[in-house]
Amino acid sequence: MKGKFVTFEGCEGVGKSRQIKMLEEYLAAAGKEYFFTREPGGTVISEKIREIILDKDNATMTGECEALLYAAARAQLLKERVAPELAAGKLVICDRYIDSSFAYQGRGRGLGYEFVAAINDYAVKNFMPDCTLFLDLPPERAFLRKGGADKQDRVELSGADFHARVYEGYKELAQKYGERIAVIDSSGTREQTHAKIIAALKERGII
Ligand code: TYD
Repeated sequence: MKGKFVTFEGCEGVGKSRQIKMLEEYLAAAGKEYFFTREPGGTVISEKIREIILDKDNATMTGECEALLYAAARAQLLKERVAPELAAGKLVICDRYIDSSFAYQGRGRGLGYEFVAAINDYAVKNFMPDCTLFLDLPPERAFLRKGGADKQDRVELSGADFHARVYEGYKELAQKYGERIAVIDSSGTREQTHAKIIAALKERGII
């Protein structure tokens, strides 16, 4: 793994997409090469798995099935896109990764850390991020920013308690993996959050 691997994490509506776009613009302006992808998705097969996971009609999907599908989509993305880009020395930026599974399935669905770690051992092998940017904003505040309940997918519709547990899960991960996970206070303006992200990446020698 020659390149650097950066992942974005956070609850729904924290402004992750906007921050990724701002980082992409920053990198492009600085003439830095990067490869951007997202989870679940990023390959034809992984996007098909994404459709199954997020489909509101799949209301009876078990937590176990959900966790395995995320891991399957991840395994495909890793081997098909992420690993080759890292081998070529690129900076790889991924919108969500294994920490989403720990927070959403492990904590939110209550499957536990060990279960998620075990199935992701197969999916992830040794490809852990060099830096994970956790956009820290409690779900009740993030939801206010996002709005539009009619546009929500199956995971987003899981209820306030679920999303509160996801947030707690992220906080626990940030404590446990303090070196890898940079906690980015996202309660300010988008420009302030962007500046914190750039500072965190520079501090870690990523950019
Ligand atoms: P998406 O629309 O991409 O959400 P966001 O813009 O918030 O990233 O949908 C991805 C959903 O999948 C999101 O609700 C988080 C969830 N998810 C998990 O539950 N586990 C995972 O391992 C991953 C990667 C995502």
